[in-house]
Amino acid sequence: MKKVSFQIGQQTTQYFFDASFPQLESLIEYSNAVIITDENVFAKHKPKFKGGNVIVLKPGEEYKVQATADAIIGQLIEMGADRKTWLVGVGGGVVTDITGYVASLYMRGINYGFVPTTVLAMVDAAIGGKNGVNVGLYKNLVGAIRQPDFILYDYSFLRSLPKHEWSSGFAEIIKHACINDAAMFRALEKNTIAYYKKTPVAMAALVKRNALLKSEIARSDEHEQGNRKMLNFGHTLGHALENIYELTHGQAISIGMVAACMVSQNITGFKDTSRVMSLLKKYDLPVSAGYETKKVFNLMKMDKKKDRDVINYVMLDRIGKGTVQPILIKQLEEMINDLQ
Ligand SMILES: NC(=O)c1ccc[n+]([C@@H]2O[C@H](COP(=O)([O-])OP(=O)(O)OC[C@H]3O[C@@H](n4cnc5c(N)ncnc54)[C@H](O)[C@@H]3O)[C@@H](O)[C@H]2O)c1
Repeated sequence: MKKVSFQIGQQTTQYFFDASFPQLESLIEYSNAVIITDENVFAKHKPKFKGGNVIVLKPGEEYKVQATADAIIGQLIEMGADRKTWLVGVGGGVVTDITGYVASLYMRGINYGFVPTTVLAMVDAAIGGKNGVNVGLYKNLVGAIRQPDFILYDYSFLRSLPKHEWSSGFAEIIKHACINDAAMFRALEKNTIAYYKKTPVAMAALVKRNALLKSEIARSDEHEQGNRKMLNFGHTLGHALENIYELTHGQAISIGMVAACMVSQNITGFKDTSRVMSLLKKYDLPVSAGYETKKVFNLMKMDKKKDRDVINYVMLDRIGKGTVQPILIKQLEEMINDLQ
């Protein structure tokens, strides 16, 4: 197990790469820990949970809501959870978001850690301490910023991950490459999901590289005043699409990234939209979708990155170099309308 410590704000998160789930018992007082997972992860990995105090949630984005947080809090009270209790989220981004959120609320904050089980959670959702719930159509509108005490990586969870969830995770990996890592972009162009699936060493290295890339950005700007905004590449449009249409997070941001590349062509002179599109297609991600611009923009107007009539929109100068620029929502709407 390789340990890396990262200080973000006042808190330090320990990352245990190449670890195995049972090592959790040596990290925390296991008998006073409550594991939160979902039905899919629990069903596929039942033996791993034996002997633990486990809360099993219904899977899916529709359960990332306050009612689920309230239900977990009710169960924690019944279980006698106190200030010394650890919460451990074992699952994808929905589980990690809701676990981190509840851990920030319960008794005004208790210790918590994650064992991410999707590619997306390993490279993105588990990192950076932003955890929240959706309110109606508004993604992550309510939440907290508080860093996990640890993140434990056990790649054996990925063996049961459905194919489309691999693609969804690679959307965030491609995002990282686009905004910050041209060399990784080139490596991704050479490889495929099939290659990463059958080459665990390469997958472990890719996960670690992405986890550290996101951590470094979060460390430099915990509260999203500058650099961290870059992580929203593809997400402004993506979040709105994800909530209106039946798309995975990765599919939605893939479409959002293509739109952002096209807008970049007009504003920064970005020249590599077709390369980004080819890479997304290679990883089984959609590059276009018919959607109602008006409906999507009405929702985008509630985006947290919005400042009155202006939105901080992430574009690319070139592959590996993102840039955040304020843009009038009306102007963006016109440009995206023209793409449709
Ligand atoms: N907090 C952040 O910074 C951040 C960043 C990115 C995304 N997110 C959030 O993450 C969520 C998306 O994450 P996700 O794609 O991991 O979603 P998810 O948690 O819904 O997981 C996707 C699906 O895979 C299943 N699953 C998870 N692990 C599995 C495994 N090992 N084997 C079999 N099935 C498994 C789940 O039950 C679910 O059906 C969104 O809510 C998004 O807002 C948060």
